[in-house]
Amino acid sequence: MIVLIGFMGAGKSTVGTALAARLNEPFIDTDSVIEKREGRSVAEVFEAEGEGHFRTLERDVVLNVLAEARGVVALGGGSITNPEVRAVLAGHDVAYLSVGLEEALRRLSGDATRPLLKSGELPVLYQYRRSLYEEVARATIVTDGKSVTECADEIVAAFGELKDGPDVVHVDLGTRGYDVVIGAGVAGQLVRFLPPSLKPERAFIVTHGSVRAIAESVASSLRELDLEPAVATIPEGESSKSP
Ligand code: S3P
Repeated sequence: MIVLIGFMGAGKSTVGTALAARLNEPFIDTDSVIEKREGRSVAEVFEAEGEGHFRTLERDVVLNVLAEARGVVALGGGSITNPEVRAVLAGHDVAYLSVGLEEALRRLSGDATRPLLKSGELPVLYQYRRSLYEEVARATIVTDGKSVTECADEIVAAFGELKDGPDVVHVDLGTRGYDVVIGAGVAGQLVRFLPPSLKPERAFIVTHGSVRAIAESVASSLRELDLEPAVATIPEGESSKSP
């Protein structure tokens, strides 16, 4: 998975669509997922319930998408203001599409879909977020003066083509041996990796608050087997692991 972040007008959706087509992978825009889930536009959510409510919806959607999706994912420009989102992004290939403030405003002139464009705080918001984008980015792509194709080329050069599938490492403990499956989004595909001989009748997930989104991915994968897992949420830390 490649994740695109950056300020409004950086070109996340345009570059993301081109990049996904080139890699032959799906493209997901988290604002579109929010709109589909809510049955209304981002502007309508801001208008009816305010920015705070939008940020809660955004955090939930972004964490779910990062846990489950594959391909190219574009995050709304403000999603990185959430510390949980920033923590989860640490495990991903994140490209920061940077854009000068003037260029962003030029690209967005006449846009009526982004409520924050009406705010007089854009320069402050821009400065504040810049360091957050830089904090989580593994690659920074300067978009000013570049074509969509040039930006997509730079991202591919930074991360290479996407790997076909997860890595599987076998832990050889004889009859107690097991496979460790490592890859982005594998939790949401859990049932693909179960040994064929295993026919689970019940499932029980032990989790803690910070990885709640991953536990939800595991649960949704198990539902494909018509299992409704019981979930136990325990406090984080060593004290929960030992009797
Ligand atoms: C926002 C950016 C928008 C959208 C919402 C808020 C922001 O997405 O999520 O209007 O806070 O910067 P884009 O970055 O795709 O424009």
